[in-house]
Amino acid sequence: MDNLQLDTLVITCDRKSELPSVAQQILTFAADSRIMLFVGDLGAGKTTLIKELCMQLGVKDETASPTFSIINEYVGDASNSIYHFDFYRIKNEDEALNLGVEEYFYSGNYCFIEWPERIERLLPDNFLIIKIKGNEGEKRTFNLTRYE
Ligand SMILES: Nc1ncnc2c1ncn2[C@@H]1O[C@H](COP(=O)(O)OP(=O)(O)OP(=O)(O)O)[C@@H](O)[C@H]1O
Ligand SMILES: [Mg+2]
Repeated sequence: MDNLQLDTLVITCDRKSELPSVAQQILTFAADSRIMLFVGDLGAGKTTLIKELCMQLGVKDETASPTFSIINEYVGDASNSIYHFDFYRIKNEDEALNLGVEEYFYSGNYCFIEWPERIERLLPDNFLIIKIKGNEGEKRTFNLTRYE
């Protein structure tokens, strides 16, 4: 990766009830970054944090659709779309291209991406990566880095 690293921030969280505040700090730190990559082991809390970010962006109906497979769309309080991707089960980058991911990535809307490692070559240059550590109890560490 030869992107320019801009800025970093570490957020620690002792319990799940702190996630609304964590989400707010992430949105503030992200500034204009609309692409957020979530990296962490199974059960680290990627989906849980994304759900909280959506809540903070005013998504009312956060019930995951039963057909959720790879791409899910939510609507925030400014009637803006928020896209949530989970590439865990993607077969290869061609499958992602066929789903039209590039159109979403370059739409200017928030794109929250789980398992970005699976489609690394399709990612735009500007993104915020959030590395989540810890999966026992409710303690988590979130390492944020903004790239351009
Ligand atoms: N501080 C915390 N932040 C996030 N999740 C937490 C926290 N404390 C406990 N949890 C719990 O950890 C679990 C995280 O599951 P989640 O589905 O969000 O993980 P994931 O990283 O998306 O996993 P996968 O790779 O399978 O998609 C949930 O049961 C959640 O309630
Ligand atoms: Mg998940």
